[in-house]
Amino acid sequence: KNSTLTDNYQRNLKYLRVSITDRCNLRCVYCAPTRAHIPRLRHRDVLRYEEILRVVRLGVRLGISKVRITGGEPLVRKGVCDFLAALGEINGIRDLSLTTNGVLLKKHISAIKAAGVRRLNISLDTLSPEKFDEIAGHNYFKEVWEGILAAHDAGFHPIKINTVAMKGVNDDELADIARLSFDYPFHMRFIEYMPIGDKHMDAGKTMLAPEIMDRLSTIGPLQPIDRNPDDGPADRYQFKDAAGEVGFIRPLSQHFCETCNRLRLTASGEIRPCLLSDRQVDLKTPIRKGYTDDVLVETIFEAVRLKPASHHLNDQCHEEIHSAMSSIGG
Ligand code: GTP
Ligand code: 5AD
Ligand code: SF4
Repeated sequence: KNSTLTDNYQRNLKYLRVSITDRCNLRCVYCAPTRAHIPRLRHRDVLRYEEILRVVRLGVRLGISKVRITGGEPLVRKGVCDFLAALGEINGIRDLSLTTNGVLLKKHISAIKAAGVRRLNISLDTLSPEKFDEIAGHNYFKEVWEGILAAHDAGFHPIKINTVAMKGVNDDELADIARLSFDYPFHMRFIEYMPIGDKHMDAGKTMLAPEIMDRLSTIGPLQPIDRNPDDGPADRYQFKDAAGEVGFIRPLSQHFCETCNRLRLTASGEIRPCLLSDRQVDLKTPIRKGYTDDVLVETIFEAVRLKPASHHLNDQCHEEIHSAMSSIGG
């Protein structure tokens, strides 16, 4: 019988991304379903922290060594810092990280650090407060920027900054955003917009990496950095004499599915083997029926077997993805 999480394509799954809430204090155009009415999970349908911790512990037994907490926006969930601290206590997690929009980061930064979170990924799509409001639906630019600086001051490393590149929205600012890598040791990452979910923004706004790189060429030549086996999805580069890096996450122009080592746990307790496929397996029901660890492990393996070789976003008639980014956590 299997004891580690190896899928049908011999990929060893070592990385669990856990969405702890589908709620968010922003409404980003590339993520939030619509601005009018957003369906929300009922409280009882969201996994409790104890339930999540049980799943994570089982995952660690099966070889999970990296855990990333996502949302929605994870920092809006009550008790999140105590939960992070409990995760920090689990032996076997060698990389505990958090993806956040940064709005509430400053307030929580010392607790996050104390909990044992090592790495932070923070969204930043514009440097203009007005445009921030247009993209994210709220005027929180100042909070986010202060959150980023607080993380920097607290000594997190690396801090990855995520920018979704959008034609006609922030394409005029991409070079300015990349320039932050001169002054700060941040890993600036430009992400190709994935048109999934209840589309709020059309696929025409997607910019592929070569086009994004072209916008950055005004700054100077980008020097490639060798990838480590442990690296995330970004192709890494650096400007000469810069403190930080610039990377490109290219789900469309050069997907990284062959090396994908991820599983996801959704806020409502499903194991989702691929961000870009709606095939997932319900773990909450067996948990709440009081089933044994063995049954839960078997359910996790069932999800692992559903992990597709790669996504099909580029295919003409690809599987329609209905889940919203905000509920999967990116
Ligand atoms: P680390 O490698 O742990 O630093 O994380 P990351 O860069 O994958 O995570 P982050 O939450 O910062 O996500 C950055 C972008 O990568 C987001 O746009 C995600 O939607 C995208 N992304 C993350 N994981 C996957 C994946 O498995 N498949 C695809 N296609 N995109 C992903
Ligand atoms: N396409 C690409 N990236 C996205 N993100 C959210 N929605 C999308 C999308 N449709 C990114 C945000 C956030 C990360 C978790 O996911 O940049 O930082
Ligand atoms: Fe919220 Fe993050 Fe989605 Fe933006 S990308 S709406 S910040 S969950």
